[in-house]
Amino acid sequence: METRTVLVTGAAQGLGQEFAVALAGRGYRVAGLDLVPQPETAGRILDYVELVADVTDEAQIAAALDRVIDRFGTLHIVVNNAGVYPAKPFEETTPEDWRRIMRVNLEAPFLVVRAALPHLRAAGWGRVVNIASAAVFTAPPTMVPYVASKAGLIGFTRALAGALAPYDITVNAIAPSMVRTATAERTVGADGGFAQVRARQAVGRTQEPSDLVSTLLYVVDEGSGFLTGQTLNVSGGSVYL
Ligand SMILES: NC(=O)c1ccc[n+]([C@@H]2O[C@H](COP(=O)([O-])OP(=O)(O)OC[C@H]3O[C@@H](n4cnc5c(N)ncnc54)[C@H](O)[C@@H]3O)[C@@H](O)[C@H]2O)c1
Repeated sequence: METRTVLVTGAAQGLGQEFAVALAGRGYRVAGLDLVPQPETAGRILDYVELVADVTDEAQIAAALDRVIDRFGTLHIVVNNAGVYPAKPFEETTPEDWRRIMRVNLEAPFLVVRAALPHLRAAGWGRVVNIASAAVFTAPPTMVPYVASKAGLIGFTRALAGALAPYDITVNAIAPSMVRTATAERTVGADGGFAQVRARQAVGRTQEPSDLVSTLLYVVDEGSGFLTGQTLNVSGGSVYL
């Protein structure tokens, strides 16, 4: 079988780094894109393509994809993982906050898939994976734009599944609970916030980035062609769909 090539956005740290390293470990050829350089990710992957670009900028996305094709000759899988999730009382949320969160979390996956589609179609097979959030279902009141953006991403996932099915491309979303990353720790406060989330999960420990890897591998697997338009709720039983 042809070696599959994957683009992971937000690959410098956190979930994106975990995904990039895990996929490389399973033999995928990995390109990682982030606003910032990714020395830690690059140091853990042989033959890593490191792309520094802004997922909200069409020209930067196009240039980054050109580099992937130059290096690997093809692209099969896009993992839309880059995202921002600042917490703020609704009363203090500005239109600029709203627009930035929507642009990074919702518009950017559209821009990335739109730019990647000719390459996925040329490859004749593809997978799009959007990293959503169980916050869509728990709806924390200090994250109104975030919840709206990730709810939009789930809608995007559903409609896009039908649009891309003719090209043998599946589109799915993964919805984690609160995962122990440096950004999550800064956002919710390492102890209080994680303890609150743990209390409403069935699984009584904090979710780690590695807890999402098996689901990602399942979704991108050759054998998962009948799984599309779905949101896989990997949230330790904090919500039941
Ligand atoms: N950590 C959690 O608790 C959690 C829970 C549910 C969902 N998620 C989602 O998972 C994803 C990753 O979360 P994380 O905790 O690993 O975050 P993180 O902050 O550790 O990593 C996100 C990465 O995205 C990059 N990024 C942000 N804006 C970008 C842009 N415009 N262009 C390119 N790169 C950009 C950042 O530089 C960063 O390296 C996000 O979409 C987040 O909403 C996280």
